[in-house]
Amino acid sequence: MQTNEKKKVLSCIQPSGMLTLGNYLGALINWKNMQNEFDCTYAVADLHAITVRQEPAKLRQQIYSTCALLLALGIDPANNTLFVQSHVAAHSQLAWLLSCYTQFGELSRMTQFKEKSLKHADNINAGLFSYPVLMAADILLYQPDLVPVGADQKQHLEIARDIAVRFNGIYGNVFTVPEPYIAKTGARVMSLQDPSKKMSKSDENINSWVAMLDSKDDIIRKFKRAVTDSEAKVCIGENKLGINNLIGIYSAITGKSAQDITNEFEGKGYGDFKITVGEAVAEELRPIQEKYNTFIADKKQLEDIYKEGAVKAEYTARRTLSKVMKKVGFVL
Ligand code: TYM
Repeated sequence: MQTNEKKKVLSCIQPSGMLTLGNYLGALINWKNMQNEFDCTYAVADLHAITVRQEPAKLRQQIYSTCALLLALGIDPANNTLFVQSHVAAHSQLAWLLSCYTQFGELSRMTQFKEKSLKHADNINAGLFSYPVLMAADILLYQPDLVPVGADQKQHLEIARDIAVRFNGIYGNVFTVPEPYIAKTGARVMSLQDPSKKMSKSDENINSWVAMLDSKDDIIRKFKRAVTDSEAKVCIGENKLGINNLIGIYSAITGKSAQDITNEFEGKGYGDFKITVGEAVAEELRPIQEKYNTFIADKKQLEDIYKEGAVKAEYTARRTLSKVMKKVGFVL
């Protein structure tokens, strides 16, 4: 039977610091592009953010700021659902249930857990370890078909799928098993200072990442300083991680292929290329930054939007949670 129902999309972003060009090209640009074709649910994942220590006042500000940026980007809360994760209790509740269907060994293999436990050796808390289960709950509550993420989240998506398949195997068809949606360009934006590492807002070297709210001058300065090789030819190459990254960024923004980009910069040095990429990034972010200033200035409007979003999210999340509770054998 054919139905006209739109397919469902779910994704979340942590409000832990300034959002970066990596977040934008790896995920947010797709969030925006998918919202007309799909029924989209997007959340600010504040529960995930406290797996590393946060300053309360700063965290609060970052949650507002993330909501404002999503709206500035063009996410339309009237036709989609935009909310703050902790406002829908079902996320924490389903996470507990699913943790009883997730193996210690599976969680121990997560690359992000290994990396973060090295980085925060003084605070390897249980939340950091069970983080992927909460992420599985975020996803499975909304029965999405697609989950748009950057390549770094692929492993977490796989474990969410494994948990869903396992649960369905025991209790029948409870969860939709979602597919990752990872775009061809921009899925892995690398650090401008060490292009073997992903661009991350938690990197202490601020020249390694571009914030979505950086000024044009800062953006161009960071691109000018980007680490490259000594070959001075703008083309994809095995030992050209820095240039490969800049080509990837320029390609994701302009839609030009790597070959077009090589042709465009034939006979020109890296200096010209870096400035062109910096300018393209600044130009891409400029309208978002302008709108951001309007949204962040009106906290009341932001609160109205995310509260209304939580009511919509709660409705769907509760339905799935009740279904799971019944299947497991709890009384309602
Ligand atoms: P987070 O908050 O670290 O990042 C949000 C999104 O941005 C993508 N991303 C990148 N993409 C390309 N290059 C980069 N350098 C880069 N850095 C970040 C991430 O892949 C992500 O899509 N655990 C998630 C948040 C989360 C979630 C979920 C995502 C919580 N629950 C449910 C999807 C579904 C995270 O920490 O993303």
